[in-house]
Amino acid sequence: MQAPHLLLFLFLPFLLPGIWADPEAETQVFQVLQTSFLANISSAEVSGLGLLGDVPIFALDPDNWSIYFHWPWARQAVVKGDIEKVMSQSKIALRNMIRYMHEMAQKEHRDYPLVVQVRVGCVLHPNRTSWSFLDVGEGGRDFIAFTVERQCWEPRQPSPLAEMVSKLLTKNKSITGVLEHLLSISCQSFILTLYKYGHETLEKQETPVATVFARTPSSAQLLLVCRVTGFYPRPISVDWLRDGQEVPPGPALNTSAILPNADLTYQLRSILAVDPHDGHSYACRVRHRSLGTRILLIPWENRSTAPTIGIAIAVLVLVAIASAGAFWWWKRRKGDEATWETQEYII
Ligand SMILES: *[C@@H]1O[C@H](CO)[C@@H](O)[C@H](O)[C@H]1NC(C)=O
Ligand SMILES: *[C@@H]1O[C@H](CO)[C@@H](O)[C@H](O)[C@H]1NC(C)=O
Ligand SMILES: *[C@@H]1O[C@H](CO)[C@@H](O)[C@H](O)[C@H]1NC(C)=O
Ligand SMILES: *[C@@H]1O[C@H](CO)[C@@H](O)[C@H](O)[C@H]1NC(C)=O
Repeated sequence: MQAPHLLLFLFLPFLLPGIWADPEAETQVFQVLQTSFLANISSAEVSGLGLLGDVPIFALDPDNWSIYFHWPWARQAVVKGDIEKVMSQSKIALRNMIRYMHEMAQKEHRDYPLVVQVRVGCVLHPNRTSWSFLDVGEGGRDFIAFTVERQCWEPRQPSPLAEMVSKLLTKNKSITGVLEHLLSISCQSFILTLYKYGHETLEKQETPVATVFARTPSSAQLLLVCRVTGFYPRPISVDWLRDGQEVPPGPALNTSAILPNADLTYQLRSILAVDPHDGHSYACRVRHRSLGTRILLIPWENRSTAPTIGIAIAVLVLVAIASAGAFWWWKRRKGDEATWETQEYII
């Protein structure tokens, strides 16, 4: 393990950008999701939350419509921008919005219950260009949307109600002006402010924990399961090596979707169907940003082969992968910035 460390030291300046990713080097999405459930003319249940990527920033208390922050730094970030003005008015705005929905429902003889959903936010690219969105849905379908460039509301379904509401809302210049400012200026600067105050949380990295075990649904089939959990951020690469060679996608290989854990980490599992007596060696390979240049390699010991042979094969495979990896790594370094480097193995 001496050589890889030396390599790491030599190439540290090149590796740094890959190890600590610059948040502003990635596309960021801030959005507020809000749902109103109107059971009848006299009721409204409201829920809402603000998210930066997959990190919850604030939420609306459904009982008293107060906004609470998930992190102290999120409150700090809000105080710094003109988002605070909006938030201090949020209860009044919500009340007006609900009243407006009831009025429209009655005017148009809509049946209760009504479900109205709003999705508003912006996307900020690393080159500092951005775009914003404000979409309203009703009954699970697109209803109307605000377009920032034209400062107007447009129907998103061919109904007289959507046409009428869009026209009425567009006429209200004080609201369209505020929306235009919020969506084209405040939202983007809010993302940058959130990063300034919350970078420790937003840039958190959790290392994946991987285990390999076998299941035998029948005597003719062996399922190797690689369970990877507890990692953050979401992007990850999990694959299988057969005698050191990557197993290509095919019917024998099943990798699940990436699923969330309760603690803002993720999990997935990859299942490889093999012949119990095929004599090959298998290993699950995991690459993730939190591992930096390292790779997690979890071998599965085939018990049908003699253990000494198994170990010998594993060592040979490791040596082979290490040499191939080192060669590949050298080649990659000459080219563009690599994210994954094969330098060191954890087993
Ligand atoms: C309206 O709906 C709420 C919540 O479902 C219910 O508690 C209330 O009794 C309803 N009121 C009327 C007038 O139907
Ligand atoms: C809103 O309700 C929550 C509990 O549901 C409470 O903790 C909070 O203090 C309340 N906020 C206000 C402004 O009353
Ligand atoms: C900025 O980046 C985005 C996403 O990569 C791209 O679609 C857009 O064209 C870029 N804009 C400019 C002006 O470079
Ligand atoms: C993978 O999934 C497909 C479809 O769900 C199934 O037919 C196949 O048997 C699965 N393979 C393994 C190895 O579990």
